[in-house]
Amino acid sequence: MTVLTRDIEEAARLLRAGQLVAFPTETVYGLGGDATDDHAVAGIFEAKGRPHFNPLICHYPDAEAAFAHVLADDRARALAAQFWPGPLTMVLRRHPKCPVALLAGAGLDTLAVRVPAHPVAQALLRAVGRPVAAPSANRSGRISPTSAAHVMAELSGRIAAVLEGGDCEVGVESSVLDLSSGGAVLLRHGGVTREAIEAVIGRVGTALPITAAPAPTLRSPGLLLSHYAPGLPVRLNATDVSPDEALLAFGSPLPGARLTWNLSEGQDLRQAAARLFAGLRWLDEEGTRLGCVRIAVQPLPEAGLGAAINDRLTRAAAPRE
Ligand code: TXA
Ligand code: MG
Repeated sequence: MTVLTRDIEEAARLLRAGQLVAFPTETVYGLGGDATDDHAVAGIFEAKGRPHFNPLICHYPDAEAAFAHVLADDRARALAAQFWPGPLTMVLRRHPKCPVALLAGAGLDTLAVRVPAHPVAQALLRAVGRPVAAPSANRSGRISPTSAAHVMAELSGRIAAVLEGGDCEVGVESSVLDLSSGGAVLLRHGGVTREAIEAVIGRVGTALPITAAPAPTLRSPGLLLSHYAPGLPVRLNATDVSPDEALLAFGSPLPGARLTWNLSEGQDLRQAAARLFAGLRWLDEEGTRLGCVRIAVQPLPEAGLGAAINDRLTRAAAPRE
């Protein structure tokens, strides 16, 4: 059952308890979850029915909180001073001590951070006291919601609550600006114009709009692969395992591996998604230390979140350049 509420404290309590809560921002409603909680973040992908683990934007009450989790340079600080709170998202390198779940950033070493201006979002983020990961609160492939009623129509029964905050003023999503390398690149046009950004930091390059066409949509998962591929080779659909392999298990673990990370003993796909990136990382590090030659992966079903998990595993196993 999904509750429609105006109670910000109750919404904050649900988020801190790992539940999913949609909330208003000045752009569109977001489908929020505690960004530091792998299970909550996996639940966001599940509730949206997202076929891929596209990286999510993390929401903060102010620039100080946001910049504690990423490496902000002078350009980022100047933009924050000008446009935050407001509809600008900045992609920056993660701080080494960033507590945000790897799954929220889809395994990338960058993180998209945003400080929304909507007073209800502001009050909620302050009350939660943790970063809130939130894509737009629509089912995958549908139009972004700009009212609580839209969200109820899309997600009722899939999330704990919708925080009512009226109609969104901006109505298109935030502009997404990549500042993670030397040049600034506009990844998505949105609430803050290119001209306004360029007036602060000078020339900005453009990527094809990420959401415009199938090919650019693949940009993030593609990047993600080259950023994330583990050092050890990956062998999929393992039905046996040798003593020089590290095992990524699902369900009953195959016997005989040097070391094992079980995605989910009880074959729960949401738990598996939540444990995927951390598990690959751990098997890679520990496996390398113990002299393993590869990571073997037990098969997972293709249904539900399994499609996204298998997509990531297939990319991790793809031949290296
Ligand atoms: O206005 C908004 O931005 C809304 C509200 C809820 O804040 N959120 C939103 O999220 O539109 P979503 O998930 O629908 O779009 C996030 C965009 C995607 O295009 C994603 O690929 C990009 O931001 N993105 C997120 N993290 C990224 C990263 N680390 N590197 C590159 N692109 C990233
Ligand atoms: Mg969206």
